[in-house]
Amino acid sequence: MNMDKKVIFSGVQPSGELTLGNYLGAIKNWVKLQDEYNCYYCIVDLHAITVPKEAKILRKRSLELLASYIACGIDPEKNTLFIQSHVSAHAELSWVLNCMTYMGELNRMTQFKEKAKKNEANLNAGLFTYPVLMAADILLYQADLVPVGHDQKQHLEIARDLANRFNNRYSETFKVPDPYITKVGARIMSLQDPTSKMSKSDENDNGYILLLDKPDAITRKIKRAVTDSENLVKYNDEQLGIKNLMTIYSTITGESIEEIESKYEGKGYGQFKGDLAEVIIEGLRPVREKFDYLMKNKDYLENIYMEGANIAEKTARKTLRKVYKKVGFIPRKFK
Ligand code: AMP
Ligand code: TRP
Repeated sequence: MNMDKKVIFSGVQPSGELTLGNYLGAIKNWVKLQDEYNCYYCIVDLHAITVPKEAKILRKRSLELLASYIACGIDPEKNTLFIQSHVSAHAELSWVLNCMTYMGELNRMTQFKEKAKKNEANLNAGLFTYPVLMAADILLYQADLVPVGHDQKQHLEIARDLANRFNNRYSETFKVPDPYITKVGARIMSLQDPTSKMSKSDENDNGYILLLDKPDAITRKIKRAVTDSENLVKYNDEQLGIKNLMTIYSTITGESIEEIESKYEGKGYGQFKGDLAEVIIEGLRPVREKFDYLMKNKDYLENIYMEGANIAEKTARKTLRKVYKKVGFIPRKFK
């Protein structure tokens, strides 16, 4: 690991299968960054239990998420891939930061407000302090940059505020992280309702494409995607459905929006959707194949998360030791 490189930290919850939104909004960018930065990519299982999960399913999802990271092109030789609960410093720093976070700050979080509506029967404190744990994740590694989708922007601001608050109250301890949010692709919308984000918790499964969807499912979902009656492949805010489909096309192929507009000038939605389905199918094919292969090699995956935790632990402990000292905890003595 090259210590001169800047540090990246990011994570995804093992709370279901990955969608095309997760891939294009977050993970695809991670792949681009892996050569230039020293990257930590985490499977945030502590976050996942803010919404109750069956233990067996959580374990399965966590391993699948690790396989998905690698299948998407994240090289375990170049990056530190690990499971959040394996490094206890996350929960420990989270406590310290909890004691410096204001209720009012957390009350403003839109993700909390949305999740609170959905989980009224189980409005647990973890859901409320979720952004504090996320700040701990990031700050432990002195991350410079955090590549996420647009929906995490507000959480990143809390992480920055907490870093500054701690640094001001004690002394310089944490790097203040910057968000890394791309212009195109950071907000992939539902195929059924282009005003809300593509999410695996959508009740209508035609709203999202999963990374592991079979080709015929992808074709069907794209065909059914909501558009309008203009029949013009043009990128604007009057045609949100087609705008979203063009974003997907552009993010996968790397073609610019202008190129796509001129390619489909005079051609209708039928042809565009047919081509888009092909683009997605071909884009995801290698991911699906690699995923299937990896899931048959559990020993390989175990080895990766084991080594990942060892590396992550060292960095995280170093930061946590500093924090404990500054806060005024007596350092533990060992015989
Ligand atoms: P989550 O599945 O909510 O844990 O999100 C994991 C990562 O994917 C985060 O960086 C999100 O910002 C990103 N993400 C999730 N849904 C979308 C979407 N529809 N468009 C773009 N990015 C997304
Ligand atoms: N909250 C993020 C999400 O739902 C996941 C996450 C947890 C994360 N800790 C993080 C993302 C640290 C980036 C950095 O998508």
